[in-house]
Amino acid sequence: MKMVVANWKMHMSGAESERFFKDLMKEVTPGGVEVVIAPSNFALYSLSKIKQWQFSLAAQNFYHMDYGAYTGETAVRQLVGVADYALVGHSERRQYFRETNKDTRRKVAAALSVGVKPILCVGETAMERENKETDDVVRDQLLAGLADVTPTQLKDVVIAYEPRWAISTAKNVGVCTPEDARSALTFIRQQLKELYGKTARVLYGGSVKSDNIVSYLKKGEADGALVGGASLQLKEFGDIIEATKAVR
Ligand code: 13P
Repeated sequence: MKMVVANWKMHMSGAESERFFKDLMKEVTPGGVEVVIAPSNFALYSLSKIKQWQFSLAAQNFYHMDYGAYTGETAVRQLVGVADYALVGHSERRQYFRETNKDTRRKVAAALSVGVKPILCVGETAMERENKETDDVVRDQLLAGLADVTPTQLKDVVIAYEPRWAISTAKNVGVCTPEDARSALTFIRQQLKELYGKTARVLYGGSVKSDNIVSYLKKGEADGALVGGASLQLKEFGDIIEATKAVR
């Protein structure tokens, strides 16, 4: 089943998040597509209380440790029963909060250990792409993030390829064509096959909108999308879900 993940990033108050989620649940009937909402961690608990069965929730971030003296952090165990998924290693976390491949390894393992499914984000910067280092960077991110993942656990892991330069809020944002996306996704699937003899769900993210989602799914061969800006507009996000449903 195709998957659409809404990354709301650091947007919306708790009340606004609840209102948006309620309106979205009225607007769409997401049969045939798995819709995952990643609100701010602050809103996660209240959304989990009003969630209807066809939606899933994701945390945008968490700390790999269990409960303890870590002021300001969200323990991986606090996600249990609240979030079905958790983003790990989003490029904004890597860029602004200095998250390393070691952090992603720990987070992926910690999430799996409590039954939360990690969505491991990988992708290169504009400069790395210019230097033709895309494959190298993506490979390092994959190998590190998955280092403690067993073949049995792989079914609970989702990979999201998000080239940093194609994110709508990036400086001098560029266009990652469906062909560009396909070549990275193919590379990721090859790596997974080499490591595990099988692949996982691989999403594309970066300026996805209702008028280009189908081409990323069809020409890009993505198993779904990780959507930022466009997921903050009710009608636009509803259209993305509907367009995804139509792709078999
Ligand atoms: P945009 O869809 O706004 O480009 O954001 C992509 C993203 O970072 C989702 O995680």
